Amino acid sequence: MNPSLFLQTLNDEIARQRYGEQPTELYEPIRYLMAIGGKRLRPVLTLLGAALYTDDWARALRPAMAVEVFHNFTLMHDDIMDKAPLRRGQPTVHVKWNENVGILSGDVMLVQAYELLLDVDDDLLKPILRRFNRTAAQVCEGQQGDMNFEGRSDVTEADYLEMIRLKTAVLLGFSLELGAMIARAPLADCDLLRRVGECIGLGFQLKDDYLDVYGEPGKFGKLVGGDILANKKTFLLIEALEKATGPTRYELTRWLAATEYNPVEKVEAVTAIYDQLGIGEATATLMNRYFDQAFSLLDQLPVEARRKALLRQFAEQLISRER
Ligand code: IPE
Ligand code: IPE
Ligand code: MG
Ligand code: MG
Ligand code: MG
Repeated sequence: MNPSLFLQTLNDEIARQRYGEQPTELYEPIRYLMAIGGKRLRPVLTLLGAALYTDDWARALRPAMAVEVFHNFTLMHDDIMDKAPLRRGQPTVHVKWNENVGILSGDVMLVQAYELLLDVDDDLLKPILRRFNRTAAQVCEGQQGDMNFEGRSDVTEADYLEMIRLKTAVLLGFSLELGAMIARAPLADCDLLRRVGECIGLGFQLKDDYLDVYGEPGKFGKLVGGDILANKKTFLLIEALEKATGPTRYELTRWLAATEYNPVEKVEAVTAIYDQLGIGEATATLMNRYFDQAFSLLDQLPVEARRKALLRQFAEQLISRER
């Protein structure tokens, strides 16, 4: 058994999924976004969560897809909000069609996520919906925080960590917890797994911020430097604002305030400041700390080591990911 079997099974199921036909502007973007790739990290976590408790993890397949469809809905809207041109190496939906198409296609994806979630046993539906709704609202809270922070220069590391916990980590936590719930794991295990998933999620978003600056354009699949251009208050920028002094600090704040500039020049200049201050290393250190925390929480889970090894192996791959 290895995580690639989960991924294969999921991708087969995703390829079979029907999203709707007319009007084509509503449904074609869903097919497009779901088909152009993606790591499928969240639904794999759901299947791994179930596989900790049962060999019949395929029961969690449609709820796992619900999580993936929900995630893709957030990406479609996120790309509008972030004015992102590229996703998974392809033009974003609002660029290929237009913003209104991206908004409405995203809306109907959220509905489809709920539809897929209906697949759980009747007695589990209410508790699962309650957890899903809470998570989805938190993702929106995190996204609004992310947007609000663009225009602020007083964002602290604690503010940032809470923002990424909401926009990213809670969904990874829910994904893992969902699989355990479907496999009828004890409540305490479900809670612990949610915390494991959140720690993985914090490490995962730190790596996302890192790759946004230091990723290889061909591999990353998104516009490298996008966060710098949007003045995103990523860990890298907050850390740089904390460490920079004298002329370096002056230059960094000048770039943040600039309204007319050459984008390539801004990305190069800010990246050079990060290099000079050792920001990449600081980001990797914090990321590793969250993954370590996830692993030590996982050690506490009263499940056979053999079953836990798979989840651990999967999480380890996320530390060194390049996309
Ligand atoms: C992108 O998520 C959004 C973040 C929370 C960083 P992924 O990096 O999981 O995106 P895909 O689904 O693999 O494209
Ligand atoms: C996205 O954060 C989080 C959600 C979509 C909720 P980012 O804006 O950093 O994600 P990417 O980098 O566009 O994938
Ligand atoms: Mg965003
Ligand atoms: Mg974005
Ligand atoms: Mg990002």
